[in-house]
Amino acid sequence: MTERFNDGSAGDADYGVIGTGYTVYRQPDPFIARLIRDALGDARKVLNVGAGAGSYEPVDREVTAVEPSAAMRAQRPAQLPAAIKGVAEQLPFADGTFDAGMATFSVHQWQDLAAGLAQMRRVTRGPVVILSCDPARLTRSWLNDYAPEMIAVEAGRYPAIATLGRGLGGHVEVLPVPIPLNCTDGFSEAYYGRPERLLDPGARRANSAWSFVDPAIAERFARDLSRDLADGSWDARYGHLRRQPYFDGSLRLIISRPAGRD
Ligand SMILES: C[S@@+](CC[C@H](N)C(=O)[O-])C[C@H]1O[C@@H](n2cnc3c(N)ncnc32)[C@H](O)[C@@H]1O
Repeated sequence: MTERFNDGSAGDADYGVIGTGYTVYRQPDPFIARLIRDALGDARKVLNVGAGAGSYEPVDREVTAVEPSAAMRAQRPAQLPAAIKGVAEQLPFADGTFDAGMATFSVHQWQDLAAGLAQMRRVTRGPVVILSCDPARLTRSWLNDYAPEMIAVEAGRYPAIATLGRGLGGHVEVLPVPIPLNCTDGFSEAYYGRPERLLDPGARRANSAWSFVDPAIAERFARDLSRDLADGSWDARYGHLRRQPYFDGSLRLIISRPAGRD
């Protein structure tokens, strides 16, 4: 598998550049974490692929983390196990090694999605749990009015939910993941009711999509949003979102269980 970047990053984004401040903006959100824990069930041995700094890894299970980027591995907190350098497409484990597998905000970056999903299924006896975005729902966010180019990039990167289900096989369940208003994991939609936060270039950098659009688009986004926040036009259109406890955006949990099990 090709290492495309100096720090080992194997996906389409260079985490050696964009990933260094990741954990400042991307802390696991407790509400989303609960949904993932429920999906993992009573699994004892859990594999986390594209594990990054360890978001959503349960601390009361035996976790094996796989992560290609050195910058991301370096940000793992001390209470989590060190991550193995590796990629989804070539998992160095025997068939059925794990009770459950997980990958959060990662599958859209893999070079060979089908191979990565097949590998996760191969090494996992029980549920494989994928947290990802439904590309067909990305335009529901106000971000599409301010940075349609960035949303278009995202829509082109995220695989269709049906593709993930087919790639994993077995019995597939897809759960909507409502995004809480004070979501602590700063993916773009997490700021649906806190637009000011996206004026911070660091918050944008923690979302790889911005690294694929011309910097002039980010500058235009910040300029337009600042203006509309100052003159009240953002609030006139979207102000209700500041009080909306959850946003049903594009976030989805895809759970594949081997056929014949529930
Ligand atoms: C947005 S980060 C998510 C990290 C973490 N799972 C989280 O939820 O915060 C995406 C991660 O996927 C990793 N990644 C990219 N391509 C990969 C591949 N082919 N195999 C495994 N991980 C990959 C990146 O290095 C990065 O750490």
